[in-house]
Amino acid sequence: MFQIVNKRELNSAVTLLEIEAPFVAKKAQAGQFIIFRVDEFSERVPLTIADYNREKGTVTIIFQKVGFSTNLLASKEIGDTISDFVGPLGTATEYEGMKKVAVVGGGVGCAIAYPQAKALHELGVEVDVIVGFRNKDIVILEDEMKAVSTNYYLMTDDGSKAEKGFVTDKLKALIEGGNEYDTVIAIGPIPMMKFVSLTTKPYGIKTIVSLNPIMIDGTGMCGGCRVTVGGEIKFACVDGPDFDGHLVDFDELINRNSIYKEREGEISKDHVCRMDKLAKDLIQ
Ligand SMILES: Cc1cc2nc3c(=O)[nH]c(=O)nc-3n(C[C@H](O)[C@H](O)[C@H](O)COP(=O)(O)OP(=O)(O)OC[C@H]3O[C@@H](n4cnc5c(N)ncnc54)[C@H](O)[C@@H]3O)c2cc1C
Ligand code: FES
Repeated sequence: MFQIVNKRELNSAVTLLEIEAPFVAKKAQAGQFIIFRVDEFSERVPLTIADYNREKGTVTIIFQKVGFSTNLLASKEIGDTISDFVGPLGTATEYEGMKKVAVVGGGVGCAIAYPQAKALHELGVEVDVIVGFRNKDIVILEDEMKAVSTNYYLMTDDGSKAEKGFVTDKLKALIEGGNEYDTVIAIGPIPMMKFVSLTTKPYGIKTIVSLNPIMIDGTGMCGGCRVTVGGEIKFACVDGPDFDGHLVDFDELINRNSIYKEREGEISKDHVCRMDKLAKDLIQ
């Protein structure tokens, strides 16, 4: 069993949990992920390793409550345990040769972008961080990101905090302004990663994206996480999740990720109803 040793609500929809998992912490590297199950009846859910502490033997995950399993995990408190926490899975990000990098994060994708910026900063690489959120109320990890970046640029869609606009507007302005990035790392919603890749392509800047297809086993056996990259079939759980953004078939990924949308909605609805009933029974 894996015990929760720290919990923070970063905003109304995003939770940080620090979990005691010494064997995962020992080997974890930026870019890798874990698969958790809350209990033996739960589904397997992949989440990126947002941070780790080898001395304490803990791993931090940051996740958005989007459906049944993420809401169930978020309902756990410090001291509670979960049954499975498997990892580190996937290939670690390759930083060799990087000198000046723009790390672009969108929404909860900032949780995944943060370990990338931190690892680059520790390697002495110049890191410009560009993050985007819909509005000021959902901004996360501002202080953490500032601490590991050379320059930090915050964008909000509605202009309620910092600069109004999209991360792609800022990235284009910085490139046009003479910043010679050797690499751009983009992590966030699939359309955002697609448009960052389209922005950097004309400038020939290497662009790495972290893909989040539906994953089941996380070990390359089920084929659930199949993506097309440069016309070849890849399995994101073992070949990725990092890929060359200029080669990814994003439209196929968007289609494949929506296959179970209807069923996921039904499951959340059923479970919420049962949980509501249970809560009401307990109160009475
Ligand atoms: C490698 C990887 C790393 C990820 N890292 C993070 C992270 O650090 N923080 C974070 O908030 N989210 C992350 N995700 C997404 C996260 O796995 C989904 O939000 C989660 O599975 C939703 O489950 P649910 O039951 O709460 O919601 P559901 O209602 O079941 O699903 C909501 C949406 O989540 C996605 N999803 C559902 N099941 C899976 C699955 N088995 N594998 C992948 N996606 C699924 C689908 O797009 C779906 O439409 C990551 C996904 C992958 C593949
Ligand atoms: S999740 Fe099964 S092959 Fe990748």
